[in-house]
Amino acid sequence: MDPLALLFPVLALFAICLAGVVFVGTRRRVRRGWRELALTTDGFVIRLREARIRPARSEEEPDLAWEGYRKFRVVKKVIEDSKDETASFYFSPIDGRRLPPFVPGAYLNIRVEIPDQGPESRSYSISGAFRKDYYRLSIKRVPEVVDRKTGKVYPAGVVSNFVHDHIHEGSVIDIMAPQCCPDFGLSLEDEAPAVLFGGGVGITPMLCMWEEIVARQPSRPVWLFYGVRGGAELMDNAGDQSALIRIDSQVSEYQRLFYCLSRVKESVDENEQVVLIGGEDGSDRLLCEASRRLRATGVDPPIVYEPGRISVKGWIWDAMTPQFKAEAHFYMCGPGPFMKGLREDLTAKGVPARRIHYEEFGADSHDAMSEVAETNCDVVFTKGGSSKNMAWEGWRRDLQRLGKANGVQIRGTCGVGACGDCQTPILAGRVNHTRSPLPFQPTAGCCLPCVAVPHPDCTRLELQA
Ligand SMILES: Cc1cc2nc3c(=O)[nH]c(=O)nc-3n(C[C@H](O)[C@H](O)[C@H](O)COP(=O)(O)OP(=O)(O)OC[C@H]3O[C@@H](n4cnc5c(N)ncnc54)[C@H](O)[C@@H]3O)c2cc1C
Ligand code: FES
Repeated sequence: MDPLALLFPVLALFAICLAGVVFVGTRRRVRRGWRELALTTDGFVIRLREARIRPARSEEEPDLAWEGYRKFRVVKKVIEDSKDETASFYFSPIDGRRLPPFVPGAYLNIRVEIPDQGPESRSYSISGAFRKDYYRLSIKRVPEVVDRKTGKVYPAGVVSNFVHDHIHEGSVIDIMAPQCCPDFGLSLEDEAPAVLFGGGVGITPMLCMWEEIVARQPSRPVWLFYGVRGGAELMDNAGDQSALIRIDSQVSEYQRLFYCLSRVKESVDENEQVVLIGGEDGSDRLLCEASRRLRATGVDPPIVYEPGRISVKGWIWDAMTPQFKAEAHFYMCGPGPFMKGLREDLTAKGVPARRIHYEEFGADSHDAMSEVAETNCDVVFTKGGSSKNMAWEGWRRDLQRLGKANGVQIRGTCGVGACGDCQTPILAGRVNHTRSPLPFQPTAGCCLPCVAVPHPDCTRLELQA
């Protein structure tokens, strides 16, 4: 063949490839140029630029996610409140590799080795915005509680107290890759106002959502409500190391922060004047009074201290414009009754369920736990032709823990019926789920052992696990 005849198609192919490279490069430059232009202008263009910021999702960088547990070292530990109840732990991977991004609202499952007890795992929400080199978790001690009426003693939490007392800077623990409960993660794909309600330590996923919006969508309206009994519980006692101090300094015209202090009560005195009473050392009451005085002058401060519990029945609802109410997504995390009340109030105000997102950290109350204690039932775990029999022990609180104590590992780490990973077929008998409504609906004939107990009428329960 004539070599010139071969040269022509080769050159043509080369020219097409070159044109392609130039075209892609130009488009990238145009995009970069658009961002640079956006940075130097304001208002509308800036919003366009922000809309282009893609949300942090681990699916985008699957190579960074990991299977099972990975070793992390505590690089910083901060006691957050003046009662020494809540501590933040900053965990960096000891392999030094970058961390995958996560959906704001995600949690980590951690595993610690408890002396004389073995490994224990629990879930904790990530309490800060995404960083490439560490995750922050804020963990509250679960104290021993004695029921005043019955005298029953509810033991102190195993893992929360262990990490407070034995995990310090330099300690190494196992952590699973971030996960998120269904319908709870914050979408960074739209700019709808976000209203975040955190009750007590339920503030942790809200801190993460707040920090992400402030960092990535600074003109998106976001209101954060933090409900505590008194100021001594606020996570602001560690100076400029505190999570909340950082929040205070971040508040802009789009962001509002409300502290609701339930130990400060509103009352009416003999002159029919509204007065505030209670609060630790009076200082909580003074904060609320100062905040009220400022608002009475017509100033709408970005940081507000209010007496009482978080509720959307009164001033909180009135403070939102009709458009804000019509578009906002409401996220909440805290004790069961707190969220039940908020959900009912929002529903009564006409907020559709698709705009109400919630996550619970565990059993609603000690009463709910003790209700399951007395059931008599034989439990059988069957798998691959072999079976393990055991008696139901109410104090184990759920079938997943009962199985674990008898050498039957049921996968799933959330422990609250949210991830669905522990779904298990029921071969015989009936169960009750201790949470209602269940965040994850098991398929017919299956249960979620992490929140399931034998039904009171059931004398023999067989699960395929
Ligand atoms: C998705 C998710 C996110 C979470 N995020 C956070 C977070 O950010 N921060 C945080 O602090 N927590 C968080 N939690 C809660 C956390 O996972 C643990 O549940 C919490 O720390 C308690 O664990 P523990 O081991 O200390 O307590 P446990 O030992 O598990 O005890 C829990 C409770 O059970 C009671 N109990 C124990 N034994 C009995 C018995 N025999 N009879 C009756 N009652 C008993 C204890 O008194 C205690 O009140 C989260 C939970 C979930 C599911
Ligand atoms: S462990 Fe997540 S649903 Fe049971």
